[in-house]
Amino acid sequence: MCGIVGILGGHEVAPILVEALKRLEYRGYDSAGIATVHDGVLERRRAVGKLVNLSDLLVHDPLQGKSGIGHTRWATHGAPSIDNAHPHRAGPVSVVHNGIIENFRELREELAAAGIQFVTETDTETVALLTQLYIEKGAQPVEAARKTLSRLDGAFALAFLFEGEEDLIVAARKGSPLAIGHGDGEMFVGSDAIALGPLTDRITYLEEGDSAVLTRTSLEIRNEAGEIANREMQTIRLDQTRVDKGGHKHFMAKEIAEQPTVIGEAIRHYLDNTGASVVLPDPGLDFTQIDRLTMVACGTAYYACFTAKYWFEQLAGIPVEVDVASEFRYREPPISKGTVALFVSQSGETADTLAALRYCEGKADKIVSVVNVPESSIARESDLVLPILAGTEIGVASTKAFTCQLTVLLMIALKAAAERGTMTAQEVADKLSALRMLPGVMNAALERESTLQAVSHNLSEARDILFLGRGVMYPLALEGALKLKEISYIHAEAYASGELKHGPIALVDEHVPVVVLAPRDSLFDKTISNMQEVMARNGKVLLITDAEGASQGGDGVWDTVVMPVVDPVLSPILYSIPAQLLAYHTAVAKGTDVDQPRNLAKSVTVE
Ligand code: F6R
Repeated sequence: MCGIVGILGGHEVAPILVEALKRLEYRGYDSAGIATVHDGVLERRRAVGKLVNLSDLLVHDPLQGKSGIGHTRWATHGAPSIDNAHPHRAGPVSVVHNGIIENFRELREELAAAGIQFVTETDTETVALLTQLYIEKGAQPVEAARKTLSRLDGAFALAFLFEGEEDLIVAARKGSPLAIGHGDGEMFVGSDAIALGPLTDRITYLEEGDSAVLTRTSLEIRNEAGEIANREMQTIRLDQTRVDKGGHKHFMAKEIAEQPTVIGEAIRHYLDNTGASVVLPDPGLDFTQIDRLTMVACGTAYYACFTAKYWFEQLAGIPVEVDVASEFRYREPPISKGTVALFVSQSGETADTLAALRYCEGKADKIVSVVNVPESSIARESDLVLPILAGTEIGVASTKAFTCQLTVLLMIALKAAAERGTMTAQEVADKLSALRMLPGVMNAALERESTLQAVSHNLSEARDILFLGRGVMYPLALEGALKLKEISYIHAEAYASGELKHGPIALVDEHVPVVVLAPRDSLFDKTISNMQEVMARNGKVLLITDAEGASQGGDGVWDTVVMPVVDPVLSPILYSIPAQLLAYHTAVAKGTDVDQPRNLAKSVTVE
């Protein structure tokens, strides 16, 4: 959701800014731009569309200078256009911004009343104009930026660059993450540590409300109250900031293929030495004291929560409420004593999820987060952080983070079941033993790729596709439909199999493929009956099941994908692989931009 970078360097900065933006492009790719100061003169270049357009522009119209800021945009206010592209400039000030300035209308009115003209439709332009105004009234750049910051409401990460100032960047964070990188005689700022990976492994994360004044040799951080704040410098493992496709055509393909490995790591992380029980990091959770679990997330992470609802309820007997964060937070649900609030987020920065977490602060007994980025805002504001250890996920469509979220949530549910006595120690040990085998089974599932690729070729011709699942496979049907629509742009819907006849079956005809996710489990016969109802109306069924399921339910279907056999509790994790590969190969067959689908961005830091 917009990436920002700033560099006070020792070399020509334009190519380094572009390189850093490339690593942030997963956050948005509607337009990109950079600004530098050279011989005191502030200049910028901006281009609509992907970063490659900016790189091309810089070949013909280069920018010199060793100090600069850059931006890659996911449009919020104003269409993707050159005028609306960052950096925004007003006289001696240039600004890059990630987030939303919520009071920009009032600020615009105030500036308009002072006779100031606007050239963009963005909220960010008000930041540049306000800073310029303070400078014109006599403030020095740092003071002008601080005065401006004190006027802003909303969520933002900002970096300011000033004409005539080749050794100064002012940066600030409120709601959107910002990392400061320490070099040798150089200083950097970026939306995340990944952006700064090739430049430095020494990172200081700004805290909520912090502002920072950077020179090449100094960093001064102040908290929201304006007091000097000491923020710890961390050394980041370089492998955590590596960004490459590892020989795959797309990041998404690499991340799908990585799943057996990362899931294996997540399993090992939460297993005790005996492999027969689950250990949670401090301060842990006392599941015997929990009356209710409230799980909140967005998108794919929400479907992970929805899946886990089945596990917590069935295995551990804990009543679970799941909700999408954007609804939860404004519904103002009562949170009774004995409730643990659990938030799931790959990025740990999703604005709605973070706001939902803050709503639960002081109301829930404990705030728990299941995140991929342990330094994220959601992690930092939680009482207990459970990392999913998926490694950096770059593809905009979440894959390995989803299956790692499921794995960790299942392990927590098993721990809860053991503590609450709803499963015996032996039953839990058996499930964990099956879980330890899962990476191997997932490798076998990945071997179905060529079959799934062939099926996807046919799917790519469809205008609408339905997904069906029952029980714990219903949330996966929802996730399969989401994955397909977001990268192939084919309209896809998912239904609980039993719900189809209550309306959606009207959509079925010979042109609508219906993907049925049905391992041979206790609900199989019921799902197959629903599938027959579809076939009786000429629906083209793609049945994804195991060998027994294929022999019992495969007659008359359009196509079948036969999966390895797995303990039914693990089916949603295993069957994620065909759901992801169908989406991936359908998108590839359609020629869409798999890693950077239109209109989307990876980390949604605005409401
Ligand atoms: C879909 C996808 C999104 C995210 C959602 C939440 O493939 O990736 O639906 O799951 O935006 O993001 P996080 O998990 O970062 O909170």
